[in-house]
Amino acid sequence: MTPPPTLPAPRLPVIGWRTFAGAAHVDQHSLLDHPRHLPTTSGRAAILLALECLDVGPGDLVLLPTYHCPTMVSPVKTLGADAAFYPIDEHGAPRLDWLSTHAPASTKALLVPHYFGLPQPMEAVRAWCDARGIALIEDCAHAMFGRAGSRAIGAWGDVAIASLTKFFPTPEGGILALNHAGLTMPALTPASRIDQIKAGSDILHMGAAHDRLTGLNRLIRGAFALKSLLRQLVRGGSGSGAGAGGKTAAPSRHGELDEAEEIDANMALIDLPLSHRALTHASGWISRRVPRRRIVEARRHHYAFFTEAFSGRDGVRPLLPALPADCAPYVFPLWVRTPDPGYAEMRRLGVPVSRWDRLWPGVPALPGDAGKSWSHHVLQLACHQDLTDADLRRIVEQVERLFITSPETTLETTPAASPPVASAP
Ligand SMILES: Cc1ncc(COP(=O)(O)O)c(C=O)c1O
Repeated sequence: MTPPPTLPAPRLPVIGWRTFAGAAHVDQHSLLDHPRHLPTTSGRAAILLALECLDVGPGDLVLLPTYHCPTMVSPVKTLGADAAFYPIDEHGAPRLDWLSTHAPASTKALLVPHYFGLPQPMEAVRAWCDARGIALIEDCAHAMFGRAGSRAIGAWGDVAIASLTKFFPTPEGGILALNHAGLTMPALTPASRIDQIKAGSDILHMGAAHDRLTGLNRLIRGAFALKSLLRQLVRGGSGSGAGAGGKTAAPSRHGELDEAEEIDANMALIDLPLSHRALTHASGWISRRVPRRRIVEARRHHYAFFTEAFSGRDGVRPLLPALPADCAPYVFPLWVRTPDPGYAEMRRLGVPVSRWDRLWPGVPALPGDAGKSWSHHVLQLACHQDLTDADLRRIVEQVERLFITSPETTLETTPAASPPVASAP
């Protein structure tokens, strides 16, 4: 019932009283305001639905970036289509020069993410797809707010998708947005009453587990402790072990699985009935009603804090230090010269960090590709609105302890260490 003395910082937003503080309005566009959007149960469900809208199936080819998480690939495979991988440049943009010579004629769709929440320039990608009759899936899972060049985020793809859990304190949620007039919005099955209740209680449990609902924390934690005790008694065995929010991180089994097992594990990330189910009221309500200004401002502030903390240091560097004006970052990408074994130690300590080191088996080494190197060297540090100043300081301390190899050096002495600056949209 009592939380541990120092709780690990949450990797994703969690509900607390502060969730409802601040102004509702932000200048940034959001996919939640897209004129033709549908709330889904997750970003991966939205990708699956996007592919179905585009009529992708067996024999079709979908091109994905070499830098990815398995949830971007499994929907393609679930529909029996083929996935192939394209290289990205040092800003995370697709290498269109490579694509122009290597994209197979059978390519039906190209998926392009706005990595880390920093909008990619999309004009050239859109033109490339139009010239070839290839559908563009704009992956805004990291980019809920902002503008990519001359258009709102999510307005470039024939289809765009987003992930709610990365920006709002919900246990589930995604968005499918259709920009192409010829596409039909899918019909989803309604969530059951149990799903509705579970989503609401998961949201509260998540906040109480992180001690964010002062006055209610003990009550909520007590109720959940009682529930799991009763469940154990009824089942006569051990509890389910599912954590608050229903999105407990699976233990990383990377390196312990052979290729076939790795693919099976990745395919299990897609639940077909859940992908075709509507979002619950509680999760939808949170994503629509929570004031947005605090989300955008806190993330931008935390990103700037990390940029300053890690600039001019030996052994690490901010991957993309220039934060475009019109966006809200999802995570802070930190390039680390020697990420192992420090990364595993950070995970063990509960530091809110992740790394996309579980690439889909068989991703090729391609000329001029930054993606494979990023999957090894780039750590994604949480920078969301529900991190406290103490959480941020602890993250910096751990990075300093594990990866920074010499005392702080001045910026003037290390100009060459600065990474390339992301081009503003
Ligand atoms: C770029 C990208 N696209 C899609 C997804 C899938 O989103 P979700 O976790 O909501 O299923 C993720 C998840 O991390 C992601 O990083």
